[in-house]
Amino acid sequence: RVRTAVLISGRGSNLSALLAAARDPAYPAEVALVLSNRPEAAGLRFAAAAGVPAIVIDHRRYPTKADFEADIQAALDSAKVEIVCLAGFMRLLSDSFVARWRDRMINIHPSLLPAFRGLDTHQRALEAGVRIHGATVHFVRPEVDSGPIIAQVAVPVLSGDDAETLAARVLAAEHRLYPQALALVARKVARVVGERVLVDAEAPDLGGRS
Ligand code: GAR
Repeated sequence: RVRTAVLISGRGSNLSALLAAARDPAYPAEVALVLSNRPEAAGLRFAAAAGVPAIVIDHRRYPTKADFEADIQAALDSAKVEIVCLAGFMRLLSDSFVARWRDRMINIHPSLLPAFRGLDTHQRALEAGVRIHGATVHFVRPEVDSGPIIAQVAVPVLSGDDAETLAARVLAAEHRLYPQALALVARKVARVVGERVLVDAEAPDLGGRS
């Protein structure tokens, strides 16, 4: 199974979904390491409950981003991590770190990219009046919330939604999407070709490009 690290900053509900998927021995990835940049991240308890090693690398304790990232890299190396999953990890990573993990680091973002990059995606979707919203898992590139799209999930925007109800609907969909997308990457069914992802024919249809 492919050794995977999950990087979090807070609640960790997507981490929990990945840990649940990885409980199945047939799942192609295992969570070998959980890393949080915040010691108070609630999601750390999911790692403890699953018996997965977890470490805190607190960015506030480092003079520079390079020092912070050097310790992250050392932790990933010592856990022999092959794929990095960003799951609500709220620190921007440097171009050199991103380059080092090119096509081996994925992120989940709560919108149908390329719409609504950045923060407050649900409020901005409501303000834009879109009828369909969702989430995206993509390979990480230096430009924030960009990179080859692996899988997406759509949810309806319902009349009466506020940012909170819409966020909850998207989050439930994220919890299905992220394990599916990681499985595609771990099985090497999803491959970067040029700046797009090709998903081999035997993969289940995840609503992405065909
Ligand atoms: C998720 O909705 C994720 O898509 C989003 O943060 C939330 C983390 O929740 N990520 C971003 O906004 C990245 N810019 P979680 O900690 O419960 O998984």
